[in-house]
Amino acid sequence: MKVTIDGQSIDVEPGTTILQAARMIGGESVPPAMCYYSKLKGSGGKCRCCLVEVSKGSEADPRPMPKLVASCVTGVMDGMEVNSTASERVTDARKSVTEFLLINHPLDCPVCDQAGECDLQNLSFKHGKSETRYIEEKRTFEPEDIGPNIQLHMNRCILCYRCVMVADQLTDGRVHGVLDRGDHSNISTCISKAIDNEFSGNMIDVCPVGALTDKTFRFKSRVWFNKPFNAHRNCDKCCGKTTVWMFGNEIQRVTGRKDEYHEVEEFICNECRFDHKDANDWVIEGPRRFEKDSVINANNYTRKIAPVVIETEEKILLGRDEDRKKISMASRPLRPEEQEVFKEGNV
Ligand code: SF4
Ligand code: FES
Repeated sequence: MKVTIDGQSIDVEPGTTILQAARMIGGESVPPAMCYYSKLKGSGGKCRCCLVEVSKGSEADPRPMPKLVASCVTGVMDGMEVNSTASERVTDARKSVTEFLLINHPLDCPVCDQAGECDLQNLSFKHGKSETRYIEEKRTFEPEDIGPNIQLHMNRCILCYRCVMVADQLTDGRVHGVLDRGDHSNISTCISKAIDNEFSGNMIDVCPVGALTDKTFRFKSRVWFNKPFNAHRNCDKCCGKTTVWMFGNEIQRVTGRKDEYHEVEEFICNECRFDHKDANDWVIEGPRRFEKDSVINANNYTRKIAPVVIETEEKILLGRDEDRKKISMASRPLRPEEQEVFKEGNV
């Protein structure tokens, strides 16, 4: 089947979606995706970020589709013509969807662990507005503890359902899901049941925003201060192929290896992710590459790792001593009248 997206044609298998075809072509025409995840069955169709315009339905029926369609759930037809970035209507729709997603999403990127690798941050950078028209209060939720490894921050959730699909398709007994309806919908374990399945950590990797983050890495570092390396170990539960995020020779975080669409190549187990933070546990293969404009590149991570020694205590104490000397009053002998005052115990 032949499909043309933004003037570029490609032959694809029947059953391919417009988004998949666009990814095969690559480049600027690939629609953004906040809920579709190629490794999760049934994902997509929730966020509407991937809207495109079908200007020609097919060779057999060339009429355009009247409404914009979600490219992640719309199959291609032979001879179909699609406009992605080439259409002003699509650009406007993506702007509106971004504005809609940000209605309730807190703007706490400066303190969010996902900052620097957040799909919503990237979407807002490209399609967001500098001002909001929303004057109502943002929706908030009570914090909920879902276990020792994963931090749930429900206020940031965009209800993409990816984590629910991971739990459904990877773990043997899902204990969390989306509860309630409408703007009360939230990710919860219903009875605050801790999620402790050997593959549950993958929910962190698939979450496009900072709603699910790694408790073992929380507030340790900004991602762009870490140097990401591909590494592997012999693991009998998963493929053992990961990315380790290093600060000097300390492993601060372990994640799955992600591709250019920020999807993990292979899911990894919790043991690899949370329990092996010693560099001796891993065979380091080499630096992981990122998009040219990724903030993670700001760290020049491809340079050779140098041991980082932070002599915090000694240096800080030395500095404090110096400061103390500078701000203290110079000691001088007491004058006779002052000596009297001290003798009488008036001070
Ligand atoms: S917690 Fe993350 S992965 Fe789960 S539904 Fe919310 S945004 Fe999606
Ligand atoms: S990626 Fe298509 S609707 Fe979310």
